[in-house]
Amino acid sequence: MTARSAAAAATEISSLHRAAGAKLAPMTTDLIVRPARSADARTLAELRWTFKQEDYEGQPPAPLRHLEEAEHWIGDRLSDGRWLAWVAEAKDEICGHVFLCLVERMPDPYKDNNPVGYVTNFFVMPSQRNKGVGSALLQALKQHSRSACLEGLIVWPSERSTPLYQRFGFQPPEELLELPLAT
Ligand SMILES: CC(C)(COP(=O)(O)OP(=O)(O)OC[C@H]1O[C@@H](n2cnc3c(N)ncnc32)[C@H](O)[C@@H]1OP(=O)(O)O)[C@@H](O)C(=O)NCCC(=O)NCCS
Repeated sequence: MTARSAAAAATEISSLHRAAGAKLAPMTTDLIVRPARSADARTLAELRWTFKQEDYEGQPPAPLRHLEEAEHWIGDRLSDGRWLAWVAEAKDEICGHVFLCLVERMPDPYKDNNPVGYVTNFFVMPSQRNKGVGSALLQALKQHSRSACLEGLIVWPSERSTPLYQRFGFQPPEELLELPLAT
């Protein structure tokens, strides 16, 4: 991919993403992984709230923000192609997802400026964990990232999920520097 507009790159990667949906085979008779659509935004927002509420032991506090905020945020980004996501469905219900944000890189006179992918919001409902659902989601994301010629993938893993990412080839960075600012 040569230097060109972000919109063109995002559109191309996004249409590859949709086309790939047709090729993702069912994992079992009742579990499939497919690209997320903006029509999934409400369910994905609900699952996002579930994911974040799981961080609290016992009863989580009442949300400070409206669910619709997340629904619109997700719907907008899935429709303009800046973000992609894959969902796992069991019995027609979404039980897991993973998101990929395309991080643009500056044009370069000598090299392609393919985006980097930031992997986030990786979640499987507790009742479906440790059965390979998360692996199937990462597999779909990785397969797409390769066919879209992304430069690489980055993730901030939890301690518990690190072995899973490592099984997919993620390694500690050799060159990246990080400046934490949120303290
Ligand atoms: C991480 C997660 C999406 C994996 O989904 P899954 O369907 O259980 O994944 P798989 O069955 O394909 O793989 C199981 C692996 O997931 C990881 N895992 C299992 N339970 C986990 C948990 N509660 N939290 C994080 N990772 C977990 C482990 O690496 C496990 O393999 P191992 O026990 O051999 O090390 C799921 O556990 C989850 O939603 N966890 C809570 C949210 C989270 O931690 N997300 C990742 C943030 S970076």
